[in-house]
Amino acid sequence: MPPDAHFQDKVAVVTGAASGIGQALASALARRGATVVLADIDEAGSRRAADTLASAAPGRVSAAALDVRDADAVAALVQRTAQDHGHLDLMFNNAGIGMAGEARELTLAHWDRAIDVNLRGVVHGVVAAYPVMVRQGTGHIVNTASLAGLIPSPLLTPYAMTKHGVVGLSTSLRMEAAAHGVRVSVVCPGVIETPLLDKSNPLDLPPVAGVPNARGVLTKTIGAAYPAASLADDVLDGVARNRPLIVTPRHARILWRLYRASPRLLIESGPLLMRRALRRGAR
Ligand code: NAI
Repeated sequence: MPPDAHFQDKVAVVTGAASGIGQALASALARRGATVVLADIDEAGSRRAADTLASAAPGRVSAAALDVRDADAVAALVQRTAQDHGHLDLMFNNAGIGMAGEARELTLAHWDRAIDVNLRGVVHGVVAAYPVMVRQGTGHIVNTASLAGLIPSPLLTPYAMTKHGVVGLSTSLRMEAAAHGVRVSVVCPGVIETPLLDKSNPLDLPPVAGVPNARGVLTKTIGAAYPAASLADDVLDGVARNRPLIVTPRHARILWRLYRASPRLLIESGPLLMRRALRRGAR
């Protein structure tokens, strides 16, 4: 993709950029002419991803080690980026983890971890970047939630809770931020082809009995996994158009629409679909 006037010479931070959606976003941004900081708790991974991009975007990509649970570290990275480049135009709060299993099997530590990474991690990015953008009178915050932030998601309850939080944060802040020239969008992907689909819950937490295979359940109940690169292009097109919610691909839009038309239908058919998916070998 050639440079794109909307993204050319923009400065962007992408969290969770060592893998999957974050990596695809960083790559699409660099291809469209932006300067990108790839931040991830996986420092070697973010460096590898930045090195891969460097040939296509010389001098415009860098890597940073960042745990989004550390508010001070997020603030420091945002300040440093804004100072080094003179401005910060795009903040992609994308880092996130899955948290699967029946709620009766989960411990408080599972709930806390989902909240710390998926919700507080986004809050930290917003608290760091929003004042900078308000001062500039311009900027765009793009938070990655999930289709699970729009519809109920059994066997992913803590995950769905945090993603609903990210949607509420983003749409509410958007209404305030417009007065200051700052834009806010929230991305709600359906099933996307990334390593997340094959990851277990964090390994330092107690093992959870009967955790279903995420790829199996999601692809059998929701739809085939969509390429991360296609998602990234959809997101940047949505950002350029200043869409409040970017819900993609089509299977996500259909389910979201169905839920809005009849919440009861989806809630009552959900358990049946889940049981069927589990029977068809999703464990
Ligand atoms: P992924 O597992 O491929 O990438 C997530 C990245 O976040 C990894 O590089 C990981 O090291 C990083 N990360 C995890 N904890 C971190 C922390 N505390 N601080 C900084 N970085 C951290 O997963 P994927 O699929 O790319 O997920 C990205 C976002 O998209 C997440 O917020 C996820 O919830 C969301 N999402 C993913 C979907 C999918 O089907 N893959 C669907 C809907 C939403």
